Amino acid sequence: MSEASSTGSRVAIVTGAARGIGAATALRLAQDGCAVGVLDLEESAGKDTVQAIEAAGGRALAVGADVSDAEQVEAAVARVAAELGAPTVLVNNAGVTRDNMLFKMTEADWDVVMNVHLRGAFLMTRAVQKHMIDAKWGRIVNLSSVSALGNRGQANYSTAKAGLQGFTKTLAIELGKFGVTANAIAPGFIQTDMTKATAERIGIPFEDFIAGAAKEIPVQRVGQPEDIAHLVSFFVSEGAGFVSGQVVYAAGGPKA
Ligand SMILES: NC(=O)c1ccc[n+]([C@@H]2O[C@H](COP(=O)([O-])OP(=O)(O)OC[C@H]3O[C@@H](n4cnc5c(N)ncnc54)[C@H](O)[C@@H]3O)[C@@H](O)[C@H]2O)c1
Repeated sequence: MSEASSTGSRVAIVTGAARGIGAATALRLAQDGCAVGVLDLEESAGKDTVQAIEAAGGRALAVGADVSDAEQVEAAVARVAAELGAPTVLVNNAGVTRDNMLFKMTEADWDVVMNVHLRGAFLMTRAVQKHMIDAKWGRIVNLSSVSALGNRGQANYSTAKAGLQGFTKTLAIELGKFGVTANAIAPGFIQTDMTKATAERIGIPFEDFIAGAAKEIPVQRVGQPEDIAHLVSFFVSEGAGFVSGQVVYAAGGPKA
């Protein structure tokens, strides 16, 4: 059995899986053999991802939930467990940006970013960990960002993404004895609706924004959602069981 297919028969939940990095990750984990709970704000938003997985011969379920709402999270995880089986793979990917310079940043901008990234990852992980502990096996992957190192206009987002790295390392320590690993991926520029919205906000055509970013990246291109899905697939694989509490920067190279 190949490394990829050895993940077979596991059940995964990917948050924010309606599009972008989450959708590519859901598809990749399905190709690796997982049944996938495709979680996003609206159940209807996840249908395309589910259809793509089913068209490729996989099994998936679209589930609507706001990751920052404890009741919705509990209900969503229970539904995945009932309809697909006990989830033992969790990818905390759902995210939002509310960029602004500190002096213009509102409390609402701060709170929503903290709630989706930090409270969301906490609630999802707390709800899923019991299934991992019962199975004595689990894989948690959290989406951080290069912005964790600091980024102008992202006081809220960089704080949340740095916080997720501490969360990841603590999960690794607490859950390791149950066969559960926790790792974080810190992507650089990935071509998704999120970076498209940033280009729109600063008034640059997306193609020009991409070309400008690519020049500053050692491999001379921006990332695609599949680049991150590939790394998730590695962390989730059986063979990665001795890799835990790590943060991998997937950014096409370090800053020059
Ligand atoms: N695109 C990048 O360059 C980049 C770089 C570093 C990190 N990231 C991180 O990767 C993750 C995915 O980013 P993306 O670019 O694919 O973003 P995206 O905006 O394309 O997709 C995010 C998804 O999350 C969902 N979502 C938002 N709030 C939610 C909530 N409360 N509950 C459930 N779902 C919710 C959205 O509906 C959407 O489908 C995010 O955590 C983001 O911060 C992205």
